[in-house]
Amino acid sequence: MKAQICKRQAVCSSLPKYRYIVLLLAVFVLILILIMKDNMDTLELLWHFICLMHLCQHVSFFQIKLNSKIFTPSVSPVSYTDHGFCTFLPLSPRDALEEKYILKSIAWPETPPLTSPFPQNKTSDPAHSIFTIVSGRGGGQWHVGDKLEVMVKMYDSQRNPKKYGGDVLLARLHNPALGAGVAGQVKDHLNGSYSAVFSLLWEGSAQVEVTLVHPSEAVTVLRRLTREQPDRIYFKSQFRSGSATEITTCNVCLRPTQQPMCNYTDLHTGDLWFCYKPKKLSCDARISHSKGGFNQNISAMERKLFQSGINMKVSILASGPANITVLPKNKGQSQVSSSSMESGPSGYYYQGVWRALDGTTVSQFNTSSAITQCLKGKVVHLYGDSTIRQWFEYLNTALPDLKEFILQNSKQVGPFMTLDYANNILVTYRCHGPPIRFSNVPTSELRYIANELDNVVGGRNTIVVLGIWSHLSTFPVEVYIRRLQGIRRAVVRLLSRAPSTLVVIRTANPKALMLYETLTNSDWYSLQRDKVLRAIFKGLNVHLVDAWEMVVAHNLPHSLHPQPPIIKNMINVLLSYICPKKGA
Ligand SMILES: *[C@@H]1O[C@H](CO)[C@@H](O)[C@H](O)[C@H]1NC(C)=O
Ligand SMILES: *[C@@H]1O[C@H](CO)[C@@H](O)[C@H](O)[C@H]1NC(C)=O
Ligand SMILES: *[C@@H]1O[C@H](CO)[C@@H](O)[C@H](O)[C@H]1NC(C)=O
Ligand SMILES: *[C@@H]1O[C@H](CO)[C@@H](O)[C@H](O)[C@H]1NC(C)=O
Ligand SMILES: *[C@@H]1O[C@H](CO)[C@@H](O)[C@H](O)[C@H]1NC(C)=O
Ligand SMILES: *[C@@H]1O[C@H](CO)[C@@H](O)[C@H](O)[C@H]1NC(C)=O
Repeated sequence: MKAQICKRQAVCSSLPKYRYIVLLLAVFVLILILIMKDNMDTLELLWHFICLMHLCQHVSFFQIKLNSKIFTPSVSPVSYTDHGFCTFLPLSPRDALEEKYILKSIAWPETPPLTSPFPQNKTSDPAHSIFTIVSGRGGGQWHVGDKLEVMVKMYDSQRNPKKYGGDVLLARLHNPALGAGVAGQVKDHLNGSYSAVFSLLWEGSAQVEVTLVHPSEAVTVLRRLTREQPDRIYFKSQFRSGSATEITTCNVCLRPTQQPMCNYTDLHTGDLWFCYKPKKLSCDARISHSKGGFNQNISAMERKLFQSGINMKVSILASGPANITVLPKNKGQSQVSSSSMESGPSGYYYQGVWRALDGTTVSQFNTSSAITQCLKGKVVHLYGDSTIRQWFEYLNTALPDLKEFILQNSKQVGPFMTLDYANNILVTYRCHGPPIRFSNVPTSELRYIANELDNVVGGRNTIVVLGIWSHLSTFPVEVYIRRLQGIRRAVVRLLSRAPSTLVVIRTANPKALMLYETLTNSDWYSLQRDKVLRAIFKGLNVHLVDAWEMVVAHNLPHSLHPQPPIIKNMINVLLSYICPKKGA
């Protein structure tokens, strides 16, 4: 092992004093791993510990080897190194190792290459696939606090069982009459079967719902698009000087041509941005940014893999009963607390109200006076995409005393500011920096969240809310990882100069999928970005609003902009972080 490490790590020989530390650590890591094979959290901790000791660069080789062995057993991770014409700036050794680690941890199982012609009737077909409730140890009796397991078997349209994994599935358990719902945890067995596990949290009937979001074969196409067409959503900028104007195409990754480029990479955050240089005007003459359009370039055969109601967001039927009756908690049964459940849900709905399982008591802020009381004397800064702008709109509407400054700003872009002068409440919204699919953003309003955070004083009356995900789905996931690493650095700076600042992050959520939405913003892309977001902010003093589960668990249809009853629950979670119940 020593020889191997040093062959790969020239640094070993140049730093002999580290050699023994590295070896010792290797042995230490190995022993620990043997003891705690199944405990991913401990391994993560260990990894952070190693990084904190500034030894990442020395242990990266075997650490990464071990990661692939332990975290993704029979998944051969996709090569993320092929970015086509996308280039990235070098990262610090620590960030680079974190990036590798995250890429491994979100690796999706291999999906089949689509040879042409790929027989449509060999792809996963929800109409022929089934799920079965596993009766388990309780022999078909379940109590509150138990888990329910469901086995899903995928078939193609000729009723042949699928032999490989990679299908995108969502699962929930619900009871419409009780307004109850909870998201299930789906596990891919990589052999065409999946299990979904649910926490049983209410008494009475509970009905299982399993949805095929995409057949595994569709994932092959989504992957190809990221690799070959990261510029399928393109952007435009207008340049102006005197009476001369020009418009050129812009993106995170621009195809190399003979045309010279303007490099608008942010010197502070390192976020990449390029436009083709206008013919006559200079790069400094850029005045605005807009979404340009979408180049759809998939074959007719590929398109068949994305048919709403046929193989995209379709329910899978049960082979037997789809519902169970949950009995009251067994006497003497230990309380299932979510903190002790490795991958349990973060909360659930009961009577339409979200109840968190992370120890937060979610209070109901049903009246404008309850919200005003909570926000009195506070400043709330919202940064991100339109899913966070929804929160601004909700608060602005819910509080009649909030008076919005009507600036000449576009309804889409902002920035917005609303003030309750009597109660000393200020709420602001600003959209995140490019890539952003808004129209007509003046360049002076193109701000990266990380840079904005550096201008926030912070303190116990300041709440910073972040939501950034849906505009970054068409690019290699590294673009998102790096964006969040930059935001995290700014959050860390904010929390060290003003530790009592409250930082809240809204996660991604599944949405309604038609062909266009899918190729530009499929839930499969969002799912991975959601995992990245959680990984990057893990261990920091920030609070999450789990939009993913709050949308999956709810009866209302998935939507990029969730409907008001869901937003109301999200705002209640936010306000419960700001104004925790006394004594809770
Ligand atoms: C399956 O699809 C292939 C090619 O699309 C076709 O040749 C074949 O007849 C189909 N089989 C059935 C049973 O429909
Ligand atoms: C697939 O793997 C799971 C878990 O190992 C196993 O329970 C199941 O029986 C397997 N299914 C098939 C069809 O081999
Ligand atoms: C763009 O600018 C950044 C920051 O100055 C620089 O690091 C990067 O190499 C430039 N990229 C290209 C392709 O010129
Ligand atoms: C469309 O996709 C095909 C196959 O991947 C590729 O050869 C072609 O260059 C693409 N066209 C555009 C305009 O991107
Ligand atoms: C399942 O639902 C059906 C129809 O809604 C109902 O008749 C049946 O009693 C339920 N079964 C259980 C076990 O709750
Ligand atoms: C707030 O509204 C919810 C849902 O409409 C309701 O269940 C709850 O009782 C209300 N709470 C208060 C404190 O008014």
